[in-house]
Amino acid sequence: MSIIKNNFETMNVTKIKNSKNNKKLTMITAYDALFAKLFEEIADMILVGDSLNMSFAGKKDTLSATLDQMIYHTNAVCTGAPKAFTILDMPFGTYINKDEALKNAIKVYNSTNAAAIKIEGGEDRACIVKHLSSNSIAVMGHIGLMPQYVRSEGGYKVRGKTKEDTQQLIKDAKAIEEAGAFALVIEGVMSETAKKITQAVSIPTIGIGAGNVTDGQVIVWSDMLGFFEEFKPKFVRHYMDGAKLVKKAVNQYRHDVQEKSFPSKEEEY
Ligand code: KIV
Repeated sequence: MSIIKNNFETMNVTKIKNSKNNKKLTMITAYDALFAKLFEEIADMILVGDSLNMSFAGKKDTLSATLDQMIYHTNAVCTGAPKAFTILDMPFGTYINKDEALKNAIKVYNSTNAAAIKIEGGEDRACIVKHLSSNSIAVMGHIGLMPQYVRSEGGYKVRGKTKEDTQQLIKDAKAIEEAGAFALVIEGVMSETAKKITQAVSIPTIGIGAGNVTDGQVIVWSDMLGFFEEFKPKFVRHYMDGAKLVKKAVNQYRHDVQEKSFPSKEEEY
């Protein structure tokens, strides 16, 4: 297998915006320095997603993630991957109004090297995005299926199935663009609808479960590397069977310890 050598260049908001209609953007989540370093010169953007509350902290949804937790993980990611364009996902309850949002975003900029923050919400949150961007915070939007709404919506629901919902999503996207966001995540949306949203805005759209029609893709690292065994959403592609490989390796280690073949003479001081 060949190792693909990328012409990596560190991203910034201008380059990201200019990628629209030029190059597909690749975003991946990371929560720690070790993996962030592995992704650094490959992905265009690293998202410290609040999904870490599920895949890293083992919780059933993202809602109990805290800002301090996000800051801790973002610092680890920025330390491991200093050249990456790293985005901190603002957790639930940290942008309930303009002032709270700005206070918390400033805390993020003061205490991490995050290049941007991401917030969930459409038209309803456009005034918050506007307040943040007019105060020099780089904001990535997130519309469609928004995991922070899981309890209020009664579950994770694919969006854009009806004409009305499609129109609402287009309004959401335009409102977030007008408010000053530099890019927009579209999650869990019918691909026909994601296409219409992508055509309706001039900022890049980054899809997850939204088909191959967006300006880029984002994926949760532990999903794509096959570490999450309980469930595989339809939109996830496994590029590795991480869980099986890890278990096989740890079983081998246990076997070698029990057989007294590890450590060997060569592995001794
Ligand atoms: O938290 C996260 O990882 C996300 C992505 C799935 C977009 O928001």
